[in-house]
Amino acid sequence: MSCNVLVAGGAGYIGSHVCKMLYSKGYNVLVFDNFSHGYEFLVKYGKFILGDIGDRKQLDLVFKNYKIDVVMHFCAYIEVGESVQNPRKYYVNNLYNAINLFESMLDNGVDKIIFSSTAAVYGMPENVPIDEEEPKNPINPYGRTKWMIEQILSDYSNSHGLRYVAFRYFNAAGADPDGELGEAHEPETHLIPLVLDAAMGIRKSIKVFGTDYPTHDGTCIRDYIHVNDLASAHIKGIEYLMNGKKSNYFNLGNGKGFSVREIIDTVKRVTGKDFPVEEVERRPGDPAILIAKSEKAKKELGWEPEFGIDDIIKTAWKWHQKLRSIPKPQI
Ligand code: UFG
Repeated sequence: MSCNVLVAGGAGYIGSHVCKMLYSKGYNVLVFDNFSHGYEFLVKYGKFILGDIGDRKQLDLVFKNYKIDVVMHFCAYIEVGESVQNPRKYYVNNLYNAINLFESMLDNGVDKIIFSSTAAVYGMPENVPIDEEEPKNPINPYGRTKWMIEQILSDYSNSHGLRYVAFRYFNAAGADPDGELGEAHEPETHLIPLVLDAAMGIRKSIKVFGTDYPTHDGTCIRDYIHVNDLASAHIKGIEYLMNGKKSNYFNLGNGKGFSVREIIDTVKRVTGKDFPVEEVERRPGDPAILIAKSEKAKKELGWEPEFGIDDIIKTAWKWHQKLRSIPKPQI
């Protein structure tokens, strides 16, 4: 199946991998990004438009000039801590600008969207592994914006015919196996790239945030899912929507949890590098264990993740060494 896909936020980490996979499968890809957190060096597949989903006039022009079948929305801010410090920033972009995008879609007859949601909608879940019907109690503005958008999409779907698939990502990790694309956050707060920085000697140690959690080794457990497995779910999501199926939401995770210590040990083994590990206080707001039940995506979309934790670390390591050798642009 081929169709025209607008990838809003296609110059970011997950968006760029999705563009590559779409392109390789023959989809027509239109990347739309304002480079606020995306990078030109991650735009390798599809046609590019420098644009902002907050700009209604520009969106209208795009939808008038191109026949778009499906929109993908990867344009949200994602830092939990920052969302607590500066919630306005999150409500304006993640909520207001997303509604702006939906408005433009509806007024221009574009009626299918894939929305990037998050495990953060569950907050501190009572039942782990988490299925999609677990209560939604987000504990920070970031998670709240994502859950609000899911509810808005549900209402718009019921009343305005905007069909959607919302994917609740667990911990996105790893990189393009070809080494062409990968994670490049500024500032970087995620565990795996920070551990890789320690392996490269760029940071002198990795800090473990909390060693007194109720887990087997006292550190937090997360469900790391390879970015290409997320990308393949998006392809399934397009097929699902193009086949006329009803709006839906899915967890995307591996269903296996790894503790912070296990990630550090895996990095040491895979890279062959040793580095100091510092045990420090808990980071506020971290749930002890987040593991997905992704049976729904498997059953209803026919999705199957392919990458394990070693593949995640190997591909991330290959990319990370390249990333750290890319010179910073001169001003
Ligand atoms: N951690 C450390 N040291 C570090 C960095 C992280 O010990 O230097 C720990 C964290 O405390 C946490 C685990 O490693 O226990 C994973 O942390 P990340 O920051 O990599 O990821 P999170 O699980 O906090 O967050 C991710 C996404 C969010 C999303 C959330 C959903 O980055 O956008 O999953 O659960 F909201």
